[in-house]
Amino acid sequence: MGKGVPDRAEAYELLQEYNKNESLIKHALTVEAVMRHFALMLGEDVEKWGVIGLLHDIDYEMYPEQHCIKAREILAGRGWPEAYIHAVESHGWKLCCNVEPIEKMEKVLYAIDELTGLIAATAVMRPSKSILDMEVKSVKKKWKQKGFAAGVNREVIEEGAGMLEIELDTVIEETIKGMQEVAEEIGLKGNI
Ligand SMILES: [Fe+2]
Repeated sequence: MGKGVPDRAEAYELLQEYNKNESLIKHALTVEAVMRHFALMLGEDVEKWGVIGLLHDIDYEMYPEQHCIKAREILAGRGWPEAYIHAVESHGWKLCCNVEPIEKMEKVLYAIDELTGLIAATAVMRPSKSILDMEVKSVKKKWKQKGFAAGVNREVIEEGAGMLEIELDTVIEETIKGMQEVAEEIGLKGNI
């Protein structure tokens, strides 16, 4: 490409080119669904937000040491618009790069990326092993257990919610809803 706006089919093809790890692909599909959900809720561009969610970790599997750095090279090489590249980079703010989330889309991505990991880890611990009947309080309970999903940076999620000026509980609730829409694809349908 090089002209116009990247669409979902093109983004998915690129994802498959750089990601073979099944759990990373599920994570990409998860973040895509949540980004689409928030875009719809906030009256924003659903396709654009979805594509950015799908590709936000494009460089992680092949270049974990250069996460968010290689992404620019890959996406710019395909002629992707700067707004998309900046959004992908900014989810690693203070973690692996110094590109600050500015746009609403970027703040949502920053807030929900780690959160989806905590929610997924919480879902599989439930008797139903499902996200479909999950409530915010289940996540809040696990949130407080620092040893649970210890790799999930709670401060980043809080900071993201703060930047968005949306209550943390609402961010959690809407992230669960977004994930419920793709429960089957991301392996969180459980036994429901
Ligand atoms: Fe991610």
